[in-house]
Amino acid sequence: MQAGCSRQQINTNDVVHLSHKNECMAYPYQLTSLEQYKADYKKSVEDPEGFWSGVAEHFQWRKKWDTVLNWNFKEPKVEWFAGAKLNITENCIDRHLATLGEKPAIIWEPNNPEERVRVVTYNRLHKRVCQVAQMLKNNGVKKGDRVCIYMGMVPELAYAVLGCARIGAIHSVIFGGFSAQSIADRLDDAKAEYIITCDGAYRGGKDIPLKSVIDDALIGNKTVKKVIVYTRTRTPVSMIKGRDIWWEDEMDIAEDQVEKNGVVTFPAEEMDAEDPLFILYTSGSTGKPKGVVHSSAGYMVWTTYTFVNVFQYKPGAIHFCTADIGWITGHSYIVYGPLCAGATSMMFEGIPTWPDAGRFWDIIDKHKVNILYTAPTAIRSLMSFGLEPLQGKDLSSLTTLGTVGEPINEEAWHWYDENIGKKKCPIVDTWWQTETGGCLISNFAGITPAKPSWATLPMPGVQPVLVDEKGEEVTEKDEHGITKGNLCIKAPWPSILRTTYGDHERCRTNYFATYENLYFTGDGALRDEQGNYRITGRVDDVLNVSGHRIGTAEVENAINMHAGVVESAVVGYPHDVKGQGIYAYVIYNGHHGDDNLRRQDILLTVTRIIGPIAKPDKIQFVSGLPKTRSGKIMRRILRKIAEGETENLGDTTTLLDPGVVDEIKNGKL
Ligand code: WTA
Repeated sequence: MQAGCSRQQINTNDVVHLSHKNECMAYPYQLTSLEQYKADYKKSVEDPEGFWSGVAEHFQWRKKWDTVLNWNFKEPKVEWFAGAKLNITENCIDRHLATLGEKPAIIWEPNNPEERVRVVTYNRLHKRVCQVAQMLKNNGVKKGDRVCIYMGMVPELAYAVLGCARIGAIHSVIFGGFSAQSIADRLDDAKAEYIITCDGAYRGGKDIPLKSVIDDALIGNKTVKKVIVYTRTRTPVSMIKGRDIWWEDEMDIAEDQVEKNGVVTFPAEEMDAEDPLFILYTSGSTGKPKGVVHSSAGYMVWTTYTFVNVFQYKPGAIHFCTADIGWITGHSYIVYGPLCAGATSMMFEGIPTWPDAGRFWDIIDKHKVNILYTAPTAIRSLMSFGLEPLQGKDLSSLTTLGTVGEPINEEAWHWYDENIGKKKCPIVDTWWQTETGGCLISNFAGITPAKPSWATLPMPGVQPVLVDEKGEEVTEKDEHGITKGNLCIKAPWPSILRTTYGDHERCRTNYFATYENLYFTGDGALRDEQGNYRITGRVDDVLNVSGHRIGTAEVENAINMHAGVVESAVVGYPHDVKGQGIYAYVIYNGHHGDDNLRRQDILLTVTRIIGPIAKPDKIQFVSGLPKTRSGKIMRRILRKIAEGETENLGDTTTLLDPGVVDEIKNGKL
């Protein structure tokens, strides 16, 4: 399958011996030309089993698969590499040790630039992950148990994730910005029995008391048996006897168990290809986040394949994905994909604007970063500081840039291209979702053409289709040759979600029931005559605020928890930096304070129920909401008003009380 490489296919174990001339040999499945992309794409559609088993050959299996793919989207049921046995950590770590043992797996840049950088070699990572696995075992964790991880961006977070995978426990990482209530809901849904957390986390000038948030989340919880606490900020914490234990103490005990005469071992649990690897909660159009479940083998193959191809990773390069491991981007492109490829992954604890807006550029200069993968929101925010923060920063090590999480506007794309990539670095615009596990539509750096603000072409194995409201495939083009529709995918790729935890029916209705025999993404898209896709944004009631997915129903539920609130309706509106802002229309019936104080009360309530990321940017008090006679809120009208549209609000004759629209228009913030 490797048209550009004539030498016999080799395992990634050999990467370190390769000179740059033969670098395509490092990953036999790395595409090297547009022609090869086209040929591989064709093959992947005509013979997915042949294509993906060819890629999977280059991973380490305890036992190979019996069948490559079984699927139907009706139930849905998807199995890739069924019958195979493996452990993903043997692929991420053990198989690299002979050749890459002393090479950096993770380079960690602390929040405070004065603090020491930590370089974690593959040998060190192996030892730490074995220790974590042993520590978990010592505390009763078994294969299939759910472990919730709520930590800052410290290397120990990566060890914790991989330690779970090593003993076959299912990790559920929760982003550090979620509130106690959100954690409590997720613990409950996953019936998690173990938590790994930190005393606190540093983020810019803030010290976030993570353990204390966990303590609040655990009030009334009956399933959690142990809480392991890693010391990062030395914030005072309350440690409950019999439940709370220190990471450092437990890791010391585990160290003596896993290391004998300088040799480190902790036998990895043998996992079935389809055993769940992790749960990651994400927002949908209902009020309650869903626990997206990914499996071991398919997820491994996909994240590694896409990492190597999209970014065109070359052995020895430093890959800097700025996401938090609490989101899917961090799971797939800080931890699993890069480590499986034997890459060096940068991990950054802080934020792009602290101590100043030059922090990313300092990190790139200091560590000679080659690949920068970040969110359009971060680019727009850094753009607003002008070029001054770039003064004196050497960015010449960069070869590749990437974006993820939300549509990138052309202005931000060109700023990134000119000022960061100096017009020499291809920019990959990667479209994907928590549910897809890894990139589905993106250009391949320097291999397939980029088109500003277009995600461009599907990965091999991905068959996008645009449909209308009824699910009919749309093929008509407008006068510019553009086709427009709701984005669906026709057939499974290896890392498609397998279920939503504890509720398979929910998975079916959410993703596979809107349109028969199709996976529905929830996004709208355009396609040009060359087959490039441009994602235009969500077509369901999901917002994308700074690249974070937030359900409008979730925010409404949180607002409605406030004692004075009768009802609310939440919509998105265009925001210069965040992409989308949150606009809330609220009917308020309390007597407490003035509008300003009420707004602050509501913001505090949302922060308590979901977390600061879901705080509305604007709250407008109204006396009624536009509803149909059947009581359904007409969000279309609210959305238009929030966007500043006052004229063409569409048909309002079906409204119960059309007068309310004028009042809302007049009171617009
Ligand atoms: C949006 C993040 C435009 C999209 C990996 C999707 C994008 C949602 C892009 C998933 C992109 C992601 N261009 N929109 N390149 N990438 N999105 O689950 O609306 O946090 O459905 O996964 O982000 O967000 P999630």
